[in-house]
Amino acid sequence: MNDTVWYQKFFGEDYLRIYTPFFSEEKTLREVDGISKLLNLPVGSSILDLCCGYGRHAIPLAQRGYQMTGLDLSEPFLQRARADALAQGVQVEWVHSDMRHIPFENTFDAAISIFTSFGYLENEEENLHVLQQVHNALKPGGLFLLESVYQNKVVRSFSPHGIFRYNDGLLVLEERSLDLLSSRYNIHITMLTPTGQRIEHEQSVRLYTLSEVVRMFTTVGLRPQAYYGGLDGSALSMDSRLVVIGRKSPHRLGTINWAPTSEKPGIAL
Ligand SMILES: C[S@@+](CC[C@H](N)C(=O)[O-])C[C@H]1O[C@@H](n2cnc3c(N)ncnc32)[C@H](O)[C@@H]1O
Repeated sequence: MNDTVWYQKFFGEDYLRIYTPFFSEEKTLREVDGISKLLNLPVGSSILDLCCGYGRHAIPLAQRGYQMTGLDLSEPFLQRARADALAQGVQVEWVHSDMRHIPFENTFDAAISIFTSFGYLENEEENLHVLQQVHNALKPGGLFLLESVYQNKVVRSFSPHGIFRYNDGLLVLEERSLDLLSSRYNIHITMLTPTGQRIEHEQSVRLYTLSEVVRMFTTVGLRPQAYYGGLDGSALSMDSRLVVIGRKSPHRLGTINWAPTSEKPGIAL
C-alpha cells in the first residue's frame, strides 16, 4: 500500500469533497462550450476524454452529439460516470486504464485532457509517453486539446501555505513547495473533517511552460496549432491557465498529398 503513488489514492471521495464545491454546473457547461468551440468539429466526431474523471465533460459532450470515450484510472469515478450517463440516457464508452496505455489506434477525431490531468507521472519520459499514446490514438489530422495549470502563474502567485474552510466545517490545509530542478509543484494536503478525522494526501504535478508543451507536442508528431489562456479562448497571460492545441499530421506515413491544407483560425504557432 505504501508503494501506491498519489494519483492512485487521491481521486475518489476526498478529491470530490475538496473540488466539487468549485465545479458549478454553469462553469462545467461553459468549459464544454469552450471545448466544442476550440475543437470546432462536426457533431458526430469521435473524442477521447483522457483522464475523464467522473464524466464531467464527457457526458455533456455526448449530449451534444459527439461520440465520446472517457478513459480514467479511478474505478470509483468511472462507476459514477457510468451511472450518470445511464441516468441521462447518453452513450459513452468508459475505459479503465492508465493514461500510459491508451488502447486505441487511429481512432479519434480529437482527444482532450482537462483540468490539470497531465504531468502527474514520475518523470519526463513517462509524461512524454502519454503524448505519444495520444498521437497513436488520433486519426491522421486529429486534434489534441490540453488544458492545464500554467507554470508562470503558479510561480508568480506561489504561497507555501493555504487554508480553506468549507461550509460543512471541513478544513483543508495545503503545504506547498516548488521543486525548481524538476519543475514540480508538490502539495501536502491535510483534511480535518467536522467529525475530527484527519486525512492526508500528496499531489505532485509537473508544471509546464508554453514552450515546453510545444516542444513535447512537436517531439511526438503533434503539430502545435494554437494556444490560449483558457477554454473560453482568452489570451494566454502570466496569470492564466494554459491551453494548447496540436494536430496529428493529416497524412499517413508514406502518402503524399499535394493539396494545401487549411487550418482553423486561432493564435497560430
Ligand atoms: C484533476 S482530475 C480531472 C478530471 C476531469 N478531467 C475533470 O476535469 O473533471 C484528474 C483525473 O486524472 C485521473 N488520473 C490520474 N492519474 C491517472 C493515470 N495515470 N491514468 C489515467 N487517469 C489518471 C484521475 O483519476 C482523475 O480523474
